[in-house]
This record gives sequence, C-alpha cells and structure tokens, in this order.
Amino acid sequence: MNKKAFIFDLDGVIVDTAKYHFLAWKKLANSIGVDFTEHQNEQLKGVSRVKSLEKILSWGNKSISEDEFMELMALKNDDYLAYIKKMDETEILPDVDRVLTFLIENDQKIALGSASKNARMILQKVNILDKFESIVDGNDVSKAKPNPEVFLNAAKNLNCNAKDCIVFEDSVAGVKAANIASMISIGIGDKETLKEADYVFNDFSEISNEFLTNLINEKRT
Ligand code: BG6
Ligand code: MG
Repeated sequence: MNKKAFIFDLDGVIVDTAKYHFLAWKKLANSIGVDFTEHQNEQLKGVSRVKSLEKILSWGNKSISEDEFMELMALKNDDYLAYIKKMDETEILPDVDRVLTFLIENDQKIALGSASKNARMILQKVNILDKFESIVDGNDVSKAKPNPEVFLNAAKNLNCNAKDCIVFEDSVAGVKAANIASMISIGIGDKETLKEADYVFNDFSEISNEFLTNLINEKRT
C-alpha cells in the first residue's frame, strides 16, 4: 500500500473547541463594546490568536496600546482554558477515532497542523496525543493560515511530498492553505462555506473507509 500523510487541523476537526473559541472571543469583544456575530466568528476560524484580536479591534474601530492588547489576549485565553480544563475524550468529534485507527492500521502517516498554541494540551486532555507522528502548532510557525507554512512543516517532518498529503480542515483559511500547498483539501463542515475544498463532508461519519482507501491509492502527479 502507498504511504500518504494525513494532516489534521485540531479546533473544529478533531474536537469541537471552535464553540469555546467563539464564546471566549464573544465575551471579550462585548466587554470592550464590540459586537460579535457567528458570521464574524467564521472569519476567525484557523486564524491565530494575535490576528483574531486584530480583526475584532478593526471591526469595532478600536485602537489600544500594546499592553492592553497583551492583556486582552491573556484574558481571552484564560477564559478559553477554563472550558478546556473540563474536556475529556467524550469531546472527540464523531468517527474521528475510527478514521485515525483505520489510517494507523493501514500504515499511513499522521500529523497535526494547527494554529493553536494550546494544541498539545488539548490532545493530551482528550487522550490522543500519541496517535500523531508529528505535531505542528501555533508555537512552531510564524505565518498564519492561509499561509501554508504549518502544513508544509508537517509534510517535511513526515518526509512526504506535498502532493501526497491530505488535509482535514474546518476553516476557510485552512482550506486555502492546503490548496496553496498543492495538498488535497477535505473540508469538514458547511459545503457552501468550504466550497474551495476538494471534498466537503459535514463530519467524519460521512467519510467511509473506502473513500480513505481511494485517497491512499490515488496517484497524483
Ligand atoms: C485555531 C482556531 O485552530 O487556533 C482559532 O481555529 C484560534 O479560532 C487559533 O484563534 C489559535 O488558538 P489558541 O488556542 O492558540 O488561542
Ligand atoms: Mg479549525
């Protein structure tokens, strides 16, 4: 069997932490008098903590000092971590485990490619840290998605060509990053929002072992 590299985003793909990011950002935005909708939240998915706060401030037409900026980022993260502390393996999204197990049993390479600086902690909380051969997260990259740096680093760590990589992503920025890297992009979420992806599924329960087998055997030039 061929060896491919399967690169998973974390938030909104493996675990539903996207909802915790939303709640924490909304609380923070509202506390400084900025409105924050689900539509705006969509634009923050896959985007780093710094870039997210910059966007919120620009939507609210606010300018603040560097110190205040750092304070607000810390406040948001503290709030977010309060949700994370309560997580356990029951929060792994449906069929993620089945897909990971199938890929491992078929001798495929698996990496994490996330913008989050909390990624390792979350994988530990839900007890799947050891399934990943390589982890590239917000501590390892300087360029945020849609820049493909995070996925290219994962491919390099796994010793795989970009054309042999498959990326699972729930964010528009992440799908763009995978496409820019010439990897196969699989959107997890809404078909219309993620229309730039090569394939889109609502969740992993729609991804069959047969579909994965075809990806493994597909020859791309
Ligand atoms: C991404 C999330 O995975 O990580 C974003 O989609 C988040 O919403 C970003 O802002 C950074 O995460 P963290 O945990 O470092 O604040
Ligand atoms: Mg995500």
